Amino acid sequence: MTTIALLPGDGIGAEILDGPVAFLRRLEADGAPVRLTGPWPYGTTGWAETGSTLPSQTVQACRAADVILSGAVGSHPGITADQCPNPEAALIELRHLFDLRISVRTVRLPGDEDVIIVRNITGGAYAGPDRRIESDGVRAAEDRLVLDPVRVQEVFDIAVEHARAYPGRRVISVDKASVFATSRLWRRTAHATAAASGVPFVDVNVDRAAYELVKYEQLPSVIVTEGLFGDILSDIVCARAGSPALCGSATINPDRSFGHGVTALFEPAHGSSPHRTGSRRSNPTGAWLAVADLLAWCPDLAALDLHHRVRAALDQVVDTAPPTYDLAAADEPTIDLDAFNQRILDALAAVTA
Ligand code: IPM
Ligand code: MN
Repeated sequence: MTTIALLPGDGIGAEILDGPVAFLRRLEADGAPVRLTGPWPYGTTGWAETGSTLPSQTVQACRAADVILSGAVGSHPGITADQCPNPEAALIELRHLFDLRISVRTVRLPGDEDVIIVRNITGGAYAGPDRRIESDGVRAAEDRLVLDPVRVQEVFDIAVEHARAYPGRRVISVDKASVFATSRLWRRTAHATAAASGVPFVDVNVDRAAYELVKYEQLPSVIVTEGLFGDILSDIVCARAGSPALCGSATINPDRSFGHGVTALFEPAHGSSPHRTGSRRSNPTGAWLAVADLLAWCPDLAALDLHHRVRAALDQVVDTAPPTYDLAAADEPTIDLDAFNQRILDALAAVTA
């Protein structure tokens, strides 16, 4: 049995999950080994409801779950940044609490193959408060970037798994080895992993990688890189895809030790888009990509092969339906969130447990 804690969060977070949640609830009703709990308060809306962006009841629910399905964390209409200054801290805290230390993003490029970005997400540039000193305006601010060889190796191990799914395509390891000691460790690990696995990681400096991702027609299948570089480069890949909505994001604990609290968090990677909240026009592709990844991650559900069917239904709808507003040319007819979801749910109608 897989327990999924739902944390819709802020802005368009709740509506963006409607389609995937309807599908999961149907599986649950059909007797699949899946159970949904929540929605649990989280982010700015969590703060408005409880006074905390990550209230203890939500943490408790995550301790009792196997995975989190989240919508978005960020601003929410009617609540100012002065009132709730840093809702994203709730996401960062969840990653640290459950040691969700690797991020795997899937960007779907219309008419092209996926690009996967694999990066460390709790160590390195995204380390916890013990590696930071705030400035009081006089004293220097400090963020220390520390990478442990064991942690770098496990990021590469996940990258190898993904690279093997796309044989023949380019796989790049991105760093800044001319400057950073951590990047020189990164590069050594890339070479050792290439020798051991046969996956030919190509070293690319981060500035050059940004250029190539904008300019080159053929994108790599896998980009493996440090957390902050990956944060920036994944947005560039989304720009190539045409919309921030075309990215599903998984933050995983690679130990895959089920039964001790959440092992992974799945979400679309776009923000909370507060000004579009309630418009029901947003593109839910990232949420469907995230749920496909969730279904592949949880052993009970992976055994049912649902992830391939969700992905096939999504691909079919994206390829045949009118575009959502974010991908439409001026004056082109568009489809809204509910019509988009309905097509996917119809395509999945025959899928039961
Ligand atoms: C993302 C976001 C987060 C990150 C923020 C909200 C902490 O930018 O998911 O890409 O940088 O990891
Ligand atoms: Mn980001």
